[in-house]
Amino acid sequence: MWQMSPFTLPVAFLALSTIRAIDCLRSSDTVDHLQILARHGERNPLFPVPELGEFQIGGLTPRGYELEKEFGKRLLLWYPELFAASPTITCISANQSRCVDSAEAIVEGLGFKEYNTEVLYMLDFVDLDVTLIRPFLMEANEILLPACVQEAVSAVIAPTKENSPPSLSALAEGLFKAQIADSIDTLLQSGYTGTVFGVNLGKCIPSGKKLVSEKAFAKLADICASSQCTDVVRKVKDELQEFSVQNLPPRSVTRSVSVYGLSDNHVLDLLKSLLPQFNHTRPQFGGYILLESRGDDVTILTGQDVFSLPEERAVLNVHEVIQLLRRRILTAERTFANGNQSR
Ligand SMILES: *[C@@H]1O[C@H](CO)[C@@H](O)[C@H](O)[C@H]1NC(C)=O
Ligand SMILES: *[C@@H]1O[C@H](CO)[C@@H](O)[C@H](O)[C@H]1NC(C)=O
Repeated sequence: MWQMSPFTLPVAFLALSTIRAIDCLRSSDTVDHLQILARHGERNPLFPVPELGEFQIGGLTPRGYELEKEFGKRLLLWYPELFAASPTITCISANQSRCVDSAEAIVEGLGFKEYNTEVLYMLDFVDLDVTLIRPFLMEANEILLPACVQEAVSAVIAPTKENSPPSLSALAEGLFKAQIADSIDTLLQSGYTGTVFGVNLGKCIPSGKKLVSEKAFAKLADICASSQCTDVVRKVKDELQEFSVQNLPPRSVTRSVSVYGLSDNHVLDLLKSLLPQFNHTRPQFGGYILLESRGDDVTILTGQDVFSLPEERAVLNVHEVIQLLRRRILTAERTFANGNQSR
């Protein structure tokens, strides 16, 4: 039932803000390439929640799909010239249903029936080497839960703790705690304030509070940085390199739009790599980065979620952007190599 959260209000807001967007965004007529790097839309919790009945764990919600589609429609209004010029459309997703579904929803909103697709490798959390996720799980143990939630978490964890060896139980507890805390954050972000795990969220958790701290999330980002996140960074870089070649004389540009369906880790990693001069936090559902290429100039814009207008953050030469991404890839490769040697 929580999936039917207030949908009418955002749509009305969307219509209004779209009109403003047309006025305030720069003219799109010179954009050769657009890369849309988006976190997936609203998803289900990553943990079964008895009060919510059956749902696809971690799947995109129907509302999440609709909002991503709306986002595609807004992009059409922001870049009318680019889309009218029949650009090549490529749909690039991390290998996870919510990421694939989000990218497809955006493309559906754009109204294109023919497009290329590419799926990028994504680690499955449950397959991860314990040594790799131990720092995250230990940090997750430090997550401070409000007393009302702590009680519910202990009740969920108790049976598992009894069955696992002591050396694993702290890690198992961290994992459960992180998943439950993330589930609650997810539901609150979707506007749900009812009861889960026997706890009334509206009464128990102060409005605006996030249970999964940025510090705990940063540990997850560290894991991603040395593995799957690098593949996403490399793909964005390779595309930019291709564009820069097209700009060499005799200039022959094939206009293109790439829609990336990504996870929060990927988007945070790209934000840190592209805009190191700013502080960044975990992106919300539908949070996005736009890279507009005009000749050798790349304009970097960001938006908090699908309702936000893009905000211009920097304009760089394409070779500077490639350099930033290349540096990020090299750092990851070096860290990963060191990690492997010490094992
Ligand atoms: C994506 O995931 C599926 C199922 O887990 C797997 O069979 C496939 O090889 C993966 N593809 C890539 C590119 O990692
Ligand atoms: C970024 O974070 C650091 C450390 O938390 C802080 O000292 C700095 O002022 C922040 N910078 C901006 C631009 O917010």
